[in-house]
Amino acid sequence: SSSSESEEEYLFKVVVIGDSAVGKSNLLSRYARGEFNPQSKATIGVEFQTQSVEVDNGREVKAQIWDTAGQERFRAVTSAYYRGAFGALVVYDISRRLTFDGVKRWIDELNMHSDTTIARILVGNKSDLEHIREVSVEEGKSLAEAEEMFFMETSALDSTNVKEAFEMVIREIY
Ligand code: GTP
Ligand code: MG
Repeated sequence: SSSSESEEEYLFKVVVIGDSAVGKSNLLSRYARGEFNPQSKATIGVEFQTQSVEVDNGREVKAQIWDTAGQERFRAVTSAYYRGAFGALVVYDISRRLTFDGVKRWIDELNMHSDTTIARILVGNKSDLEHIREVSVEEGKSLAEAEEMFFMETSALDSTNVKEAFEMVIREIY
């Protein structure tokens, strides 16, 4: 990188939440490493990746993206997970309505543990599964509007909108 040492560095914490198996870990591995795992195991505890993002004026910001288990029994201490977060991705799976129904609970938890000014995006993942879609784009959009969040459908499998979704939140923070 060409950035000089005098330039300030920013480190922003971003959290990824949503029901189990919606693809949180694969969204992160696709974004940070370009990798997709068709047989990924459920996350236990917390994992994170740091990713550099270039913002408007060529300045670099670093996002520390946290990923946790969707399954209650595998989750770490909730308040610690959200502490200091500046951005959040709330993920559901467009092919499983139950995970869309679960979004409300995740938003409530997020609101309870974070500042209201946090940048938030609702993410409908697995857009490649159009043939078994259970949640329409319109439903996703209107929920996001009601909750005053950004909205995007993504596919960690074919890479659609993955970078865009993370960077929409990161740029909003910045
Ligand atoms: P927990 O860690 O249990 O909370 O799950 P998770 O949300 O991290 O889900 P994970 O990334 O482990 O993905 C669950 C399953 O969905 C895996 O079999 C993935 O390969 C698959 N998957 C993830 N993203 C996509 C996608 O965009 N399209 C398709 N077709 N499958 C996906
Ligand atoms: Mg996971």
